[in-house]
Amino acid sequence: MNSNRKFLRFFDSEEYEKVVPESDEQKKVAPPLFQQPYPEDAKLIDLIPPEKFTIGKTPFLDLVNSRISRRKYTEEPIFLEELSFLLWCTQGIKKILKSRLGVKRTVPSAGAKSPLETYLVVNRVDGLEPGLYRYISFTHQLMYIKQTDDAEEKIGELAFNQKFVGRAPLIFCWTAVPYRTEWRYTILSHKFIAIDLGIVSQSLYMACEAINLGTVAIGYYEQNKMDELFELDSDEEFVVLLAPVGKYKEEKKLSEFFKYPKREITPEDLAKLIGKYKRKNEVEFIVKDDNLVVKVGEFEEILDPYNETEFIGEFSSRALRFEFTEKGKPEKVIVLTTEDEIVELEYLE
Ligand SMILES: Cc1cc2nc3c(=O)[nH]c(=O)nc-3n(C[C@H](O)[C@H](O)[C@H](O)COP(=O)(O)O)c2cc1C
Repeated sequence: MNSNRKFLRFFDSEEYEKVVPESDEQKKVAPPLFQQPYPEDAKLIDLIPPEKFTIGKTPFLDLVNSRISRRKYTEEPIFLEELSFLLWCTQGIKKILKSRLGVKRTVPSAGAKSPLETYLVVNRVDGLEPGLYRYISFTHQLMYIKQTDDAEEKIGELAFNQKFVGRAPLIFCWTAVPYRTEWRYTILSHKFIAIDLGIVSQSLYMACEAINLGTVAIGYYEQNKMDELFELDSDEEFVVLLAPVGKYKEEKKLSEFFKYPKREITPEDLAKLIGKYKRKNEVEFIVKDDNLVVKVGEFEEILDPYNETEFIGEFSSRALRFEFTEKGKPEKVIVLTTEDEIVELEYLE
C-alpha cells in the first residue's frame, strides 16, 4: 500500500535529478500522435459544433451548488446536441500546437499531452444506431465502431454489477494512452494522467448539470473485459473510468415524505423505537451512544433524527418513518429507499 502512495508524490529538485530518467523527447524520438488512428473507411458522424449550441447557459454557481452523483435515469433518449455539448466540454479541441507537440482543449492537461480518448456505449441517443462509438476530437465527429448485443445487461455486469450503469442511455468510457504523456514526463506521467482524468470527469459532471442531465463517475469495472469490449491493445491503451449519463428522475423532497415538523429529540424518545422489523430481510433498530442505529446483517448505520419518529439515512435508506397503533404499540416502519421507492417493514418484536 505505502509503495502505491509514492505515485501521488512529486520530487525535490536534487531527487528529481537522480530518479527521473531521460525522456524520449530528450532523446529526440518523434512525438506520439494525440489521437488514436482510425481506418480510412471509418463511418464518421458530424456532431453539432460549439458555436451552434443552444443549450448549457446555466450560471456557474448554480451548477456548483446542484451537482451531485446521479444514478437513476429515465427511459428518455439523449439528443445529438446534448451529446455534442458533453463531448465538447470534456475533450473538445480548440487548437493544435504549431509544434505538433500537443493540443489545446476545453480542459487542461499536463504539457498539453491529452492522454485520454473518449469511447461511448450508446443505448439511446436520438438519431444514432445503438452500439460502440469513439469521439474523434480533431474534427469533432463520432466514429461508429460496432454493435453490441445485450449492451444494457453486459455493461451493468462489467461495472461490477452496478446495473444502473448499463441502463443509462449513454455511457462514457475513457481510456488512457499513457505514452502521450510518458514521451515527455517518463515516470512523472502517471500522477499527471490521473489528474487529467479527474478534470475530465468533473467537466462531465458540470456539463451534465448545465443541461439537466445526470452522471456519476464509476471507478469499479472489470478492467480486462472492458478493454476487450473496445478491442484495445491494452499494453498501450486501457479503460480508466466510466460515467453513465441520462435524464435523471428528480428525487422526492423529504418534506413530502415526512408527516411531522422537525423537532429536537431526547434519549427517551429513541428508546421507544428499539425493535426488529421485516420485509425481505430482518432489520433491527438499536440505540448506541444516544444515536438510533439501523442494523441489516453486519451493516450498521447511524440515522439522523428529523423528529421523534422520522429519520434520515445515507446508505440504508433516504429516510424512514416509524408508525404506531392507536394504542401506541409499534406497527411498522415506512422506508423511502435510496431508489426513491416506498417500502413497508412489519414489526416483529
Ligand atoms: C474516482 C471515483 C470513482 C467512483 N466510483 C463509483 C462507483 O463505482 N460507483 C458509484 O456508485 N459511485 C462512484 N463514485 C461516486 C462517489 O460515490 C460520489 O462522488 C460520492 O459519494 C460523493 O457524492 P456526490 O458526488 O453526490 O457528491 C465515484 C467517484 C469518483 C470520483
